[in-house]
Amino acid sequence: MDLPRAPRINPSILAADFVNMQADLARIATADFAHVDVMDNHFVPNLTFGPQMVERIQATSPIPLDVHLMITDPERWAPEYAEIGAASVTFHLEAAADPVALARRLRDIGSRAGVAVKPGTPVESLFEVLDEFDQILVMTVEPGFGGQSFMPETMPKLRSLAEEARRRGSSVWLQVDGGISDSTIEYAAAAGADTFVAGSAVYGADDIEAAVTRLRDLARAGSLEA
Ligand code: DX5
Ligand code: ZN
Repeated sequence: MDLPRAPRINPSILAADFVNMQADLARIATADFAHVDVMDNHFVPNLTFGPQMVERIQATSPIPLDVHLMITDPERWAPEYAEIGAASVTFHLEAAADPVALARRLRDIGSRAGVAVKPGTPVESLFEVLDEFDQILVMTVEPGFGGQSFMPETMPKLRSLAEEARRRGSSVWLQVDGGISDSTIEYAAAAGADTFVAGSAVYGADDIEAAVTRLRDLARAGSLEA
């Protein structure tokens, strides 16, 4: 599969209409990946969908899936999402017993492997193992809900990951998720993000295709400031 080039815009279907999912997936056909938030009401205080629903989303989506697992015991569940055919599966560092081993399993099955960190989680432990992952997701809100405000205090962490990746010649993608909009995306791009999740900023727009294009243009402008 040809991978989309940076900057990548991944609309979060958490902001879609769950009973009109097919139509709402069709509306993001010009974006890069459909971001699928799996929540278990345990790792986060909210509940969305599981493998059965994600399998139907996979079969219906015009673009590849970027699955974000906000669940405990990802060792038990993450491989199933890779087997369904998700292009990318991201689990939380805070929840994984052995993140590198899990990433290797996901890659073996054939998906990209991502690891996510909550706003308060340090990232230094990832420096030595950057290339074990295809994507590092720096949460820019506390995971659990859409529509929250971007937390600028997460940017130094993103900058340190971007610097480390550059130093090591790593091609790992740096993703941000939470509160990404026309007014914050340039800032995150300037700090080193190349992959952007946006829920309310995309699905809340009157013209979704135009919103995706505008976010991509703003991210491109921001990355030039980096
Ligand atoms: C939050 C989810 C996000 C959420 C983002 O826990 O991981 O993907 O959908 O929503 P917005 O873009 O509205 O902040
Ligand atoms: Zn997410």
